Amino acid sequence: MKSLVILISGRGSNMQALLEANLPARIAAVISNKPEAPGLEIARSRGYETIVLDQRSYPDREVFDQKLAEVIDAYAPDLVALAGFMRLLGGSFVSRYEGRLINIHPSLLPAFPGLHPHRQALKEGVKVHGCTVHFVTAETDRGPIIIQAAVQVIPSDTEETLAARVLQQEHRIYPEAVRWFMKDRLKLSDNSVEVSDADFDDSVLYSPGLSK
Ligand code: GRF
Repeated sequence: MKSLVILISGRGSNMQALLEANLPARIAAVISNKPEAPGLEIARSRGYETIVLDQRSYPDREVFDQKLAEVIDAYAPDLVALAGFMRLLGGSFVSRYEGRLINIHPSLLPAFPGLHPHRQALKEGVKVHGCTVHFVTAETDRGPIIIQAAVQVIPSDTEETLAARVLQQEHRIYPEAVRWFMKDRLKLSDNSVEVSDADFDDSVLYSPGLSK
């Protein structure tokens, strides 16, 4: 069976969605760069192996990345999933895991990379927002896109309500993307990902909805 290592920094709700998804993969470990990450306790209480690599104990990014890679490689995972891992990874780390490192970001990339994507979306007045699972490349929140989900932006939305609506979809698309990876259904070429046997139709999301 293929295996997965999950990297977190905080709440861990995307990690939890992965743990609960009955994936066709062994979840080898959950690693956090923050000892106080609430997600650690969620993983522990479900019997998963957890490891803390406190970033404050390392002098610089390179040394931290090197140690992180050592810890990950001890599990020889097929895939590494960043699930709210709030630390930039250096180029050599990213290239070491090329094609087997994925991330979830709460926007329709390439729109609104980086911090506060919901705030950015509200500021720009977009009518459709969402989330993206993608392979990680050297550029932050870029890289070949595996799956996206779109939601309407509602006039009364605050950052919090919009984030909550997007998060529900994150919890649906992340396990799906991992399942596809584990079942060898993803073909990565240049900047695009082909999903074999994927479902497509001509449905459209209008936002606001059309007049009845
Ligand atoms: C999620 O919105 C994720 O997309 C982003 O950070 C948030 C982490 O939430 N990268 P959680 O820790 O998975 O609950």
